[in-house]
Amino acid sequence: MSAQNKNRRVTVSTLKAMKANAEKISVLTAYDSSFAEVIDTQGLDIILVGDSLGMVIQGHESTVPVSVDDMIYHSKAVAAKCKRALLMVDMPFMSYTSTAQALETAARLMQEGGAQMVKLESGQREVETVRRFSEEGVPVCAHIGLQPQLIHKLGGYRVQGRGAEQAAAMLDDAIALEQAGADALLLECVTAEVAAKITKTLKIPVIGIGAGVACDGQVLVLYDILGLTPGAPKFSRDFLQDAGSIANAIAAFHQAVKDGDFPGPEHTFH
Ligand code: KIV
Repeated sequence: MSAQNKNRRVTVSTLKAMKANAEKISVLTAYDSSFAEVIDTQGLDIILVGDSLGMVIQGHESTVPVSVDDMIYHSKAVAAKCKRALLMVDMPFMSYTSTAQALETAARLMQEGGAQMVKLESGQREVETVRRFSEEGVPVCAHIGLQPQLIHKLGGYRVQGRGAEQAAAMLDDAIALEQAGADALLLECVTAEVAAKITKTLKIPVIGIGAGVACDGQVLVLYDILGLTPGAPKFSRDFLQDAGSIANAIAAFHQAVKDGDFPGPEHTFH
């Protein structure tokens, strides 16, 4: 039986029940009310206002220039038409350098932007922040694996989790973040084997992007699935090509995630 009532708002509890029922979680990014309405109407579980907006909306080369005010502007627009999906919003670069600053940013994203969950690129350093969020009742998704906000340190977007040491460190981070009270985990560009191990180990839902089919859910950037991104990443797929309309493309992505048909081997790293 489905963990969801088709008309009821998706919440943190719904996501937990979906994991328990082995029901896949479908997630797309959106940055404005028109796309948010289509995504919501097609029944996706989560809409993510990602800081990827820095690249796909603002035209920057990375997510680094995105501000909290930018996130609030786009989150408000999405919130206006996001009636059923859970609304997750990214904490942008340098907006959570201390626990106090992180709490202030999360408060603004929720109170001004309408976020129902915040997401932050995380490691051991963010464990304390996640703990405080949990104590204050801020639903939080920890984002590990590839962290695009660190692009100027990393020097490139590379697959994470290769090699026993990196894989073990990532599992340790995931466990620490769950124990601190994270409500969900996002894995970006992680080998399928490591992602499967983390998904099996954690009780909270694990959502993957470029992390193999074993994750509890899948997220993609909306403009990638609509074929708008030149040189879109290997882990993405253009769902518009065969769909005939934007609504059909979004529905096809949703169904492919639910059926475990996406990602396929060609979208997966080892
Ligand atoms: O900013 C974003 O859109 C994201 C996804 C790539 C997961 O964080």
